[in-house]
Amino acid sequence: MKTIDPAALGARTFYKHMTASVAPRPIAFASTIDAQGNVNLSPFSFFNYMGIDPPLLVFAPNRRGRDNTHKHTALNVREVPEVVINMVTYSMVEQMSLASAEFERGVDEFVKAGFTPLASERVRPPRVQESPAQFECKVLEVKEIGSMVLIIAEVVLAHFSETLFGEDGQIDQRRTDWVARLGTDFYARAAGEALFEVPRPQMGIGVDALPESVRTSRVLTGNDLGRLGSVLQLPEPAEVQVFGQTETLRELREEARHGCQYLPDLLHRHAQLLLAEGKVQEAWLTLLQLE
Ligand SMILES: Cc1cc2nc3c(=O)[nH]c(=O)nc-3n(C[C@H](O)[C@H](O)[C@H](O)COP(=O)(O)O)c2cc1C
Repeated sequence: MKTIDPAALGARTFYKHMTASVAPRPIAFASTIDAQGNVNLSPFSFFNYMGIDPPLLVFAPNRRGRDNTHKHTALNVREVPEVVINMVTYSMVEQMSLASAEFERGVDEFVKAGFTPLASERVRPPRVQESPAQFECKVLEVKEIGSMVLIIAEVVLAHFSETLFGEDGQIDQRRTDWVARLGTDFYARAAGEALFEVPRPQMGIGVDALPESVRTSRVLTGNDLGRLGSVLQLPEPAEVQVFGQTETLRELREEARHGCQYLPDLLHRHAQLLLAEGKVQEAWLTLLQLE
């Protein structure tokens, strides 16, 4: 392990390690206005959903390293404490990146980056029409800590594109295509193959309760052990015995005998395939053949 003391390394260098490892981060595409009504639109990945009741979004412009000045967004929310946070999809990413360039104060990045402003209902800054999730927010607090300006905002009205919803009336994660920021110039796309589901755990038996042969398996991974440890109880011996008579189990024993293969490894590999298919009970019935 590389062990680093941030104070010894210096904040600017430590930042590179942190943005590459506290990642991927969602992106707040923040629309604000100044006291004269000039519109500003900029992305911020020091951002997250930080509270349920009230619904809070927090994001943080830092002071410019070059001259220690505040970013326009930070100045604007002090003048008009309102912001619209628009979520960014893959189809918006290049224009969003263009909007992050250091345009002069008063320059409207909706125009520069080619986005369509849409009037908000509860706040003055406009929404980004191209974004499928737009949050109208009142700024509750602006807190400066060192070079950072933490903006704490409450969502007072949210707009979601109809295209995001599944038949059950909930947002279907497979219908979204959010992008997130990592270190340097890397982005991630939360769609397709990158998405996977982990069932909510029960108060399972725990990895510590797994039989020794399973816990120390040279085939099963940490993810496999986690899934196995999340069952409420192990199958009964009678079930294990019945399962041992199935065709698949017989074939595996034959394979071990004729192919001179190590039966525990074969069974563990088979259990691993079952786990990958979400068949935890069958995986257990397979593994317990050895006990
Ligand atoms: C994806 C992305 C994420 C960014 N995240 C941040 C951030 O969290 N904080 C920050 O100060 N700047 C961030 N930036 C840079 C700002 O967007 C950039 O400095 C912008 O010019 C600020 O605009 P403003 O001065 O009009 O507010 C990010 C840029 C990109 C492209």
